[in-house]
Amino acid sequence: MKRKRWIFLCLVSALMSLCFGMTALAAGWKTGTGSNQNRWWYDYEDGTYAKSGWQWLDGNQDGTAECYYFDSEGWMAADTVTPDGYQVNRDGAWVENGVVVAREAQTQKEEKNAISGNQLIVYFSRTGTTERAAERIHELTGAQIVKIEAIESYPSSYEATLSRAERELDTKARPAITALVDHMDQYDTVYVGYPIWYGTAPMPVFTFLETYDLSGKTIVPFCTSGGSGVETSVRDIRRSCPDSNVTDGRRVNDVSGIQPWLSSLGLLR
Ligand SMILES: Cc1cc2nc3c(=O)[nH]c(=O)nc-3n(C[C@H](O)[C@H](O)[C@H](O)COP(=O)(O)O)c2cc1C
Repeated sequence: MKRKRWIFLCLVSALMSLCFGMTALAAGWKTGTGSNQNRWWYDYEDGTYAKSGWQWLDGNQDGTAECYYFDSEGWMAADTVTPDGYQVNRDGAWVENGVVVAREAQTQKEEKNAISGNQLIVYFSRTGTTERAAERIHELTGAQIVKIEAIESYPSSYEATLSRAERELDTKARPAITALVDHMDQYDTVYVGYPIWYGTAPMPVFTFLETYDLSGKTIVPFCTSGGSGVETSVRDIRRSCPDSNVTDGRRVNDVSGIQPWLSSLGLLR
């Protein structure tokens, strides 16, 4: 009789540990398979996963969140220095002077939105320079990134682009652009990137700014150029978006300046 009860208890306990094991697995952290079996990623269980930057996570549900860095494919960094220069330990947690940096956990949704969920990057780029800067911001913030494209694309010839751009500037044209964003209301910070064309942003950027309701949102302009500064374009963006908080912009031909700039704006952790 005693033996039967012991077997019963063993079965119950095995079942419970299986259930808890599965719960823990489903709660977020997962390992890869095959050659990635020792690598970790974090599943939000809503069809998305942590990637492209930092994320506070309370993986073991103890009320304390630690900060982890994920690459663009979603693999957690471990025992290394992250691309933006921070140390993470063997468990992937951010450490300062050997001590894990921790804070009180928020809900998963709050944690996810805290860094990337409420930020959007839109950019226009003809030859890829601004695109590189936009991708750096994406790496740092994990924000959604979309490209503004004129429905009638710009000519491949530089000279022909110059004359079309000049004509569009003179006539204050608003060239039609491809549809970009479904739910603008979910974002409160919008990074807007562009090359300087004739001292300001290309006209398709203004089409974007004036198509969507950006009132109440923070707009963060960034540009690349052959030498011109960002100031005139920021003035023009403020005119187009009088009800938005348009921060001072930045010329970011050198992408290494982006991280300190965004930190100074309080847009990185
Ligand atoms: C139509 C046109 C106008 C331009 N006007 C300026 C300008 O006024 N000042 C400047 O410094 N660079 C100017 N440039 C150079 C671009 O701003 C610069 O090459 C930029 O980095 C290109 O970015 P992209 O590769 O993302 O298109 C102009 C380029 C084009 C095609």
